[in-house]
Amino acid sequence: MSTPAATADLDGADRLARIEILTPISVVVPTYKEVLNIPLVIERIAAIRDEHAIEIELLFMDDDSNDGSVEAVEQAGREWARIVVRKQNRGLSPAVVDGLREASHPVVVCMDCDLSHPPEKIPDLVLALESGQQFVLGSRYVPGGTTDDDWGLFRWLNSYVATLLARPLTSAKDPMSGYFAMRKADFDAARHLNPIGYKIALELIVKCGIENVGEVPIHFSDRLHGESKLSLKEQLKYIQHLRRLYIHKFGTAMDLLQFLVVGASGTIVNLGVLSLLQWLGSLEALALAAGVGVSVISNFLLNRRFTFSYARAGNPWKQLVGFIGASAVGMVVNYAVALTLRSTLLEDVPYGLQFAAIAGIACGMLFNFLGNRFIVFKKRHPGATKKPAPEPGDTAL
Ligand code: GDD
Ligand code: MN
Repeated sequence: MSTPAATADLDGADRLARIEILTPISVVVPTYKEVLNIPLVIERIAAIRDEHAIEIELLFMDDDSNDGSVEAVEQAGREWARIVVRKQNRGLSPAVVDGLREASHPVVVCMDCDLSHPPEKIPDLVLALESGQQFVLGSRYVPGGTTDDDWGLFRWLNSYVATLLARPLTSAKDPMSGYFAMRKADFDAARHLNPIGYKIALELIVKCGIENVGEVPIHFSDRLHGESKLSLKEQLKYIQHLRRLYIHKFGTAMDLLQFLVVGASGTIVNLGVLSLLQWLGSLEALALAAGVGVSVISNFLLNRRFTFSYARAGNPWKQLVGFIGASAVGMVVNYAVALTLRSTLLEDVPYGLQFAAIAGIACGMLFNFLGNRFIVFKKRHPGATKKPAPEPGDTAL
């Protein structure tokens, strides 16, 4: 902070502008084929160092671009800027994680090399962090945040849907941003980082147990040189990434959600098989039995693949017998609940039979879930929050 003597003759706005950042900062910049942008980033950071008298270390994390990037950093001749050439575990997120590890200062800022993220906002990000935020995003979607005009409808929609899907994980408005500041100590506390794809800030917010996320508005400009590396493949990876983060954050509740989605698909399979056989002229009793039989198998296969995927190494036949056993009891529970409710609470209620049947299905499903979760597919999910065990591919910290 400025001393009173230094600020005595300044008005309020100037005084605010002269608040000093005393914490040294590491700026981590993932790069791939950014040779034309590297000198521009270095010069803009140099200007911030001078203007705000901040101690900044600049780290380019380059995935062996071999395009003169290394020489570009050398030619700039700034002892506080260096480039790390990575040859293994390539990718934007792993490069950022390595950079966070490599950083030697207590506060770390990550940003892109294409100057989409204005480096001049670094002091604002760090001030927000110092004023009590645990994690600060450079955000396009808070008041004052903007993007260049030529964002097509597709890019905008894409970004909007991706953000919406991350809502249960964080209430931040722009968790897709690759521009953020955090404390190195919070990064060091992260467990089971599994950085895939582009959404490294989201990964860190969830895995570092971040409790409050601040957002500083930025103008996100289109890249000046080179082209974006965000491909469709990267976007599909996002779905896989989300599933892992949901499991990490919600544990058994996420298992239950997947189980319910599979159950809903089973209802459709059941009705499909039943109607087909009816149309072919089969006996109704047989059609009903076949519908139940086929949906039990399809539910089993889908649950084994998704809901209880951690138990995929187990003996499938033993699991199938267990699954059918558990489902059989669930069906009795379903029937007993429905019958009891119909003859008591729901006796004289309009559509009482239907409500009773729905309650029965819900209880049966819950019973099935618990039976499968704790008996057939027992063993905790490795991604769950309590006592997690590392997943293959997890980065040990
Ligand atoms: N080391 C390394 N390895 N760096 C990479 C790689 C990689 O495989 N792929 C991309 N980068 C670097 C780029 O050189 C750039 O500095 C930064 O990561 C972002 O890459 P862009 O290709 O410019 O991504 P974008 O503009 O499409 O995506 C930006 O916006 C997204 C939200 O719309 C980034 O900020 C993303 O982080 C953000 O999710
Ligand atoms: Mn970009």
